[in-house]
Amino acid sequence: MALVIGNWKSNKNSQETVEWFTQISTLFSQKKPELKDIEIVVCPAFVHLSLAKSLITKYHLSLKLGAQDVSPFEAGSFTGEINARQLRELTEFVIIGHSERRDKFKEDDALLTAKGERAKEAGLKVIFCVPDSKTPVFDKADIIAYEPVWAIGTGKAESPQAAQGVCRLLKKKYPQSQIIYGGSVNDKNIADFIRMEFIDGVLPGKASLDALLFFEMILNASR
Ligand code: PGA
Repeated sequence: MALVIGNWKSNKNSQETVEWFTQISTLFSQKKPELKDIEIVVCPAFVHLSLAKSLITKYHLSLKLGAQDVSPFEAGSFTGEINARQLRELTEFVIIGHSERRDKFKEDDALLTAKGERAKEAGLKVIFCVPDSKTPVFDKADIIAYEPVWAIGTGKAESPQAAQGVCRLLKKKYPQSQIIYGGSVNDKNIADFIRMEFIDGVLPGKASLDALLFFEMILNASR
């Protein structure tokens, strides 16, 4: 099973969200791709999850939703936070520990573990990001995303062979998790990553923002 998880980060307003889902729905109904062994997840901003959910239902899309972050706390007096139980009403997945959260928001291992615990208690599937094979991993992560920092948003992906080396180490340490690669994945290189024995999927950022590109990636990842 190949996983393709699109991380929109802090992009798109509601109109652009509607356009993306409408466009991808048109592509699916025009081209009717035979998608084999592929799970597709889209991670819009919190404020558009509800809208995205209704568009997926409206267009009968086989896409799942993920959030990009979650509160380390349960419900309560935590102004500005969105907790895991609230998210579970809208999404199946949540990304935790993306390098932008670690770097720009100074999120550390203890905080990320707390987020992971809350997410699992609420029944969310955790996509836990690490920049290498040495960084501590939340041990109940369903999916571990290996994302070398230098490859994120730079247009310079790691070679599939080198990425596979790190993914293999992670698989050895965490055999119960799926291991995916992220960092400048696009429609041209996606198949090379998916083909690797120890890479179970990919986490594209920038290339997931364009519905046509994302559709092409889905086609090229389907095996
Ligand atoms: P990118 O982002 O595909 O734009 O490099 C990947 C990510 O940050 O998850």
